[in-house]
Amino acid sequence: MSLLDRISSDRPYATSKGYLVSGAVWGVVGALIGLLASLELVAPDHIGWWPHMTFGRLRPLHVNLVALGFVYTVLLGVAAFIVPRLCRVEGLWSERLGTLTLWVWNAVWIGALLTLPFGMTQGREYAELIFALDVLVAISTLSITANVLMTVAKRREPILYVSLWYICGGLVWTIGVYVIGNIMWKPLMGEPAALQGIIDSIWLWFYGHNVVGLILTPMAVGAAYWVLPRAARAPVWSHNMSLIGFWVLLVVYTHTGTHHLLQAPVPRWLKVISIIDSIALLIPVLTVLLNIWLPLRGRWGALHTDVGARFVFAGTIWYFITCFQGPLQSLPSVQRLTHFTHWVVGHAHLAILGFAGFIAIGAAYTVLPMVCRRPIYSRRLADLQYWIMLMGLLMMFLALTTAGLVQGNAWLNQEAFYRTVPMMTVYMILRSVSGLAILTGLILMSYNVLRTVLSRAPEPEGAMARAEVAA
Ligand code: HEM
Ligand code: HEM
Repeated sequence: MSLLDRISSDRPYATSKGYLVSGAVWGVVGALIGLLASLELVAPDHIGWWPHMTFGRLRPLHVNLVALGFVYTVLLGVAAFIVPRLCRVEGLWSERLGTLTLWVWNAVWIGALLTLPFGMTQGREYAELIFALDVLVAISTLSITANVLMTVAKRREPILYVSLWYICGGLVWTIGVYVIGNIMWKPLMGEPAALQGIIDSIWLWFYGHNVVGLILTPMAVGAAYWVLPRAARAPVWSHNMSLIGFWVLLVVYTHTGTHHLLQAPVPRWLKVISIIDSIALLIPVLTVLLNIWLPLRGRWGALHTDVGARFVFAGTIWYFITCFQGPLQSLPSVQRLTHFTHWVVGHAHLAILGFAGFIAIGAAYTVLPMVCRRPIYSRRLADLQYWIMLMGLLMMFLALTTAGLVQGNAWLNQEAFYRTVPMMTVYMILRSVSGLAILTGLILMSYNVLRTVLSRAPEPEGAMARAEVAA
């Protein structure tokens, strides 16, 4: 066997399998780091004495690992399966390129583990990775995007189902958003990867919100559009409406970044645009939700029996709550109370874990049996994971939201900051407990995914046929 064969594979869906496994493992690592960071807010003196473990170093590591290393990686694994399926071809244009790309992608997250705790950072939120790692991100996203687009170009199915729109859009935007947001051309000129002063903040939040809006959201929506109508065995409500949602998402999301800076000295017209567009975001959100929920009427039983679909459905409910909360907290009167508080952290977890993460997990459980040609190792574990994570996230969201309201009210009432810190202890403990539940759920997922992938047991009679028919 040649070296190339050892490190890569051209078997159909090898790329999907690799990304799903990697994402599941990075989820555990990222959540563990989040748990450590949360413990520092409960008992700072107990682990924070080691410089590499201080909150300021753990936090960016956690955020990068969970948002891109876990959620986005799993969504890429899902996309690497459903794109060829929807194109009616066997596997990606080049599975070998896909599996080689995965090495580069995983090198990024190993690199993050080896740099961020040592203080090697570019210091801009969501853009902390050092330049060398940015280059690897750019190479790997360019490669997987080219692979997916070539698959679509060689398709045997003339109709482009809406999932393909969202996935192709999400991938193409990822390259643009990442390179532009990280200002990647400046280090090439020997300058720091930042602009000056408030302009950099405006730029950074154009980037930050597009990480969630143009990278994670379209990939998650594309997966949900595939999983739920398929589970309900009913088509989406309106194909035209789904495409309107797609284009409005692109137009509106690109203008909302400044809603993170309503308390900062940025031009008023920019703030006004960001607020109006934040409210307008309800249009693409509702097109997605109505399109996906309406076909489920009278077919709820499908969710009961299909744990993957159940995760995805829960993800759409979290999406609804996130996007109800989002426009609300874009209003200056509300943000006066919530900005800089734990409320925003609650929103972030609801959005990235609840919406994008739950959809990623559910879609992974849906495609895994077809990728591996055997049922998932344990349906029971997946069910258990569902309930543990559902309860864990609900508890985390409620604890952080309440903590945020307490903080915000105290500050508005001129309470000294140091006097509000002890008020937070109980909520910080609740956040750590709920975080432990989420971490446990992700460990169960990793175990389940690894056992499914590594199992050598012959597939049970008819199991694959059922999976194929379902596909
Ligand atoms: C695996 C799923 C998870 C995802 C997708 C996720 C996502 C995020 C995101 C996006 C942020 C940035 C929040 C902001 O800037 O407003 C964040 C911060 C944080 N997360 Fe997570 N998280 C996950 C799991 C966890 C777990 C299990 C814990 C454990 C308690 C945790 C604890 C934290 C802490 C302590 C912060 C820093 C909050 C702060 O700056 O005050 N996360 N997480
Ligand atoms: C209608 C849709 C949405 C609107 C209008 C919205 C609005 C906002 C606003 C105004 C903030 C900043 C709050 C503050 O700093 O005071 C925020 C933060 C955040 N949002 Fe959203 N949001 C929406 C949907 C989403 C979605 C779908 C995701 C993820 C997929 C997401 C992820 C985040 C994250 C991670 C943060 C924390 C950023 C940070 O400070 O580190 N949001 N959102």
